[in-house]
Amino acid sequence: MKVFITGGSGFVGSNLTQDLSAKGHQVSILTRRAKSNSNLPNGAVYVTGDPNAPGPWQQAIAGHDLIINLAGASIFTRWSAENKQKIRDSRINTTHHLVDALDMAPPEKRPQTLLSTSAVGYYGDHGDEILTEETPAGDDFLARVALAWEGEAERATNLGVRVVCCRFGIVLGSKGGALSKMLPLFKFGLGSPLGHGRQWFPWIHEKDLAGIFSFLVESPEIVGPVNCVSPNQVTNTDLTQALALELGKKVFPLNVPAFVLKIVMGEMSSILLKGQRVAPNKLNKAGYQFTFSDLNAALQDIIR
Ligand SMILES: NC(=O)c1ccc[n+]([C@@H]2O[C@H](COP(=O)([O-])OP(=O)(O)OC[C@H]3O[C@@H](n4cnc5c(N)ncnc54)[C@H](OP(=O)(O)O)[C@@H]3O)[C@@H](O)[C@H]2O)c1
Repeated sequence: MKVFITGGSGFVGSNLTQDLSAKGHQVSILTRRAKSNSNLPNGAVYVTGDPNAPGPWQQAIAGHDLIINLAGASIFTRWSAENKQKIRDSRINTTHHLVDALDMAPPEKRPQTLLSTSAVGYYGDHGDEILTEETPAGDDFLARVALAWEGEAERATNLGVRVVCCRFGIVLGSKGGALSKMLPLFKFGLGSPLGHGRQWFPWIHEKDLAGIFSFLVESPEIVGPVNCVSPNQVTNTDLTQALALELGKKVFPLNVPAFVLKIVMGEMSSILLKGQRVAPNKLNKAGYQFTFSDLNAALQDIIR
């Protein structure tokens, strides 16, 4: 299969590229800055272009079978008006131009499936309520971004393209993402729960995310939103204790007060202080078998 990935050079995209290449697929990675193909696995190549604007890159998607849309500027930054605009545009405008590119492709060469990214931030803050794909969108900044991001991807259904919006939980992996930011503190024995610590932490192991993408490719009946999270959700305190245990460290005896995080990080602290209790209902119903449904086993696999 020929796969075209936007944002394929990042943490999730690199892992997916490895997995897809190992399964014998040809992968084209759209990147804004020209990069050497020599670091890529066999069968993978970079295509240079900026998905924030229309351009020749749009012609490169014709002839691929599958599009995976991961592009997006990091949300781990101070949410100034300028950075919020970048977070929005790098997801919504890029997806808009990607779907325009699908429209421009000759029908016989048009990719038939779009697996687009979204995030469990779609739901906003619901406390302890269990959230399924049926739960409506929230109304905070990330929820509004996710709703519009999915809306742009869904436009491709009008072209006869199958669209799945993968609502990622927090991806745990060895080469980046949230864990790489948390581990240094824990290694110094400074890991402690954030705020009251009862907020939910919807996580997914990177190997399961790759497994879910393969499963979705092989399950053409699945369309629309899909919660990509482990079935056993934990709280921030559970995560803190599991990480400390895995590293052989003690949990720092004081929670980090919410007001400190709010002063240091501003509005972005809401990512750490609020969480979603998300259930992977569609994947469970479709029979996806998680490799890592237990957090301790997942951390053991990643850290060791
Ligand atoms: N990691 C998680 O826990 C998590 C959770 C929920 C949702 N997600 C979503 O999943 C996607 C991939 O996440 P990731 O962790 O792999 O992110 P990442 O490591 O930051 O990679 C993001 C990719 O997007 C591209 N990108 C960055 N800024 C951009 C901009 N301003 N305009 C267009 N493209 C830009 C980059 O490609 P080039 O620099 O090569 O162009 C990069 O490879 C993101 O959309 C993210 O919001 C991730």
